[in-house]
This record gives sequence, structure tokens and C-alpha cells, in this order.
Amino acid sequence: MSAKRTFRVWRGGGDDGELASYEVEVNEGEVVLDVLHRLQATQAPDLAVRWNCKAGKCGSCSMEINGRPRLSCMARMSTFADDEPITVTPMRTFPVVRDLVCDVSFNYQKAREIPSFTPREDAEPGSFRMRQQDVERSQEFRKCIECYLCQNVCHVVRDHEENKEAFSGPRYLMRVAELEMHPEDTADRRMAAQDDFGLGYCNITKCCTEVCPEHITITDNALIPLKERVADRRYDPLVWLGSTIGIR
Ligand code: SF4
Ligand code: F3S
Ligand code: FES
Repeated sequence: MSAKRTFRVWRGGGDDGELASYEVEVNEGEVVLDVLHRLQATQAPDLAVRWNCKAGKCGSCSMEINGRPRLSCMARMSTFADDEPITVTPMRTFPVVRDLVCDVSFNYQKAREIPSFTPREDAEPGSFRMRQQDVERSQEFRKCIECYLCQNVCHVVRDHEENKEAFSGPRYLMRVAELEMHPEDTADRRMAAQDDFGLGYCNITKCCTEVCPEHITITDNALIPLKERVADRRYDPLVWLGSTIGIR
């Protein structure tokens, strides 16, 4: 069964764009990305939209659908009311290249700033032994498909370009947390989390966790434990005394 639906799609660059309205055919079982592809095939051949897997696994097709950050390949048309127009806009936190495609290089830059896994110098390959709960913690964080929906929704940078330099965003604070809690990582990442990656900007609104398509509990399992470790490091009087006289 097919029906015509109203799609309002952002066309143009970041500052000069506007919403263009289209009446487009929608068939049973389709997702928003299917309809955007039909628009490209029938009415808007130059519509720029990024996608790859169409299976919720590559993280490419992120956009905002009726104001909510989502993967367009996972947004079923059947979840919208029949008479509801569908408004599709690019992610708001990143500069728009054209139409629905953003420049997400902010995220690559933040990824590069995090020092990599630092094992003991005498660790032999294959000598690591980890408890199952440590393995499972890393595995949860490693489900990330780098869709950047969490980075896009976080209010610290969403309307505050000026915070981007000092704040790495939930995805990369989660990476710092993963390494900090890794039993074989020797680097002390707690001061850097606060001073270099902006953990203190996060006030635990949990919007990042809410939009994550991989259902990673970013706030409860990564950001809050990292904040607790930072508080131990900074405010424990014994740790403070030890670091002052140079023994910790
Ligand atoms: Fe996307 Fe979740 Fe990874 Fe954030 S943590 S980039 S929302 S998959
Ligand atoms: Fe932002 Fe997530 Fe913290 S949305 S404020 S990083 S809990
Ligand atoms: Fe790969 Fe949507 S196209 S996640």
C-alpha cells in the first residue's frame, strides 16, 4: 500500500539554506532514508544525503527528523502519524556542507587528542588477563558506530560554538573513561579528563544516552564513573597530600 506524504527537507548550505516542501510516495515498510532516495530519484536528483549500510551500523545517515536526532535508515515511516509532515534537517551542531550532509571533522579532531592505550612497558603480547566484567565494560563502549548523534545533541556544544575547543563531547569522554577504567592501561587520565577534555562541562543531562542508537549507557556507565574517579583524584586529602609531596 502506498500513499503521498509531505516531506520538508533542508536544502542549501548552512546559512543560506531553507526548507523545501515535497509531496512524495511512501510504501509500506519504508524508512525515512528510503523516501529520501525516492526524492533523489524523482524530484530532487541533486539532494545531498550521506548513507552507506542502510542497516544502522555505519553511522553515516545521522540527521534530525521532526527535530529529533536519529539515524534515517532506522526511522520507520510507520511510527509517524499519517497526516504528520516529516521535517528533515542536518545535524545542528556541525557545519553544513550541503543539504543533509554535515562536516563532522570536529569529532575526528577530538578523537586524535586522546592519548592511546598505554600498557606496561614490560607487557608481552598476549600476556593480558582481564576479568570478564572489565571485558564487558569495554565491549559496551566499543559498540559505538560513530554516528555522532550524542555529540550533536549535547547542549554544551549544540548552541555553543565557543565551547567546542574545551569540550570533547560524550563520545570521546566515553573513550577516556574506557581507557581510565581499563585494568592494563597505565596512564592516569583523570586530570586530563577534567582539564583537557572538558568533563566538568557535562552536567549529566543524559540526552546523549537517550539518542544513542546502540543503546550505550554513556552517562551512567562512562561519564559518571569518570567524574567519580576525578573527584577521588582531586578531592581525596590523602591523594592530594601524596601528589603534593610526589608519591602518587
Ligand atoms: Fe553514536 Fe552512541 Fe557512538 Fe554516540 S556513543 S557516536 S550516539 S553510537
Ligand atoms: Fe552532554 Fe551527555 Fe553530559 S548530553 S551534558 S555529555 S550527560
Ligand atoms: Fe548506515 Fe544508516 S546508512 S547507519
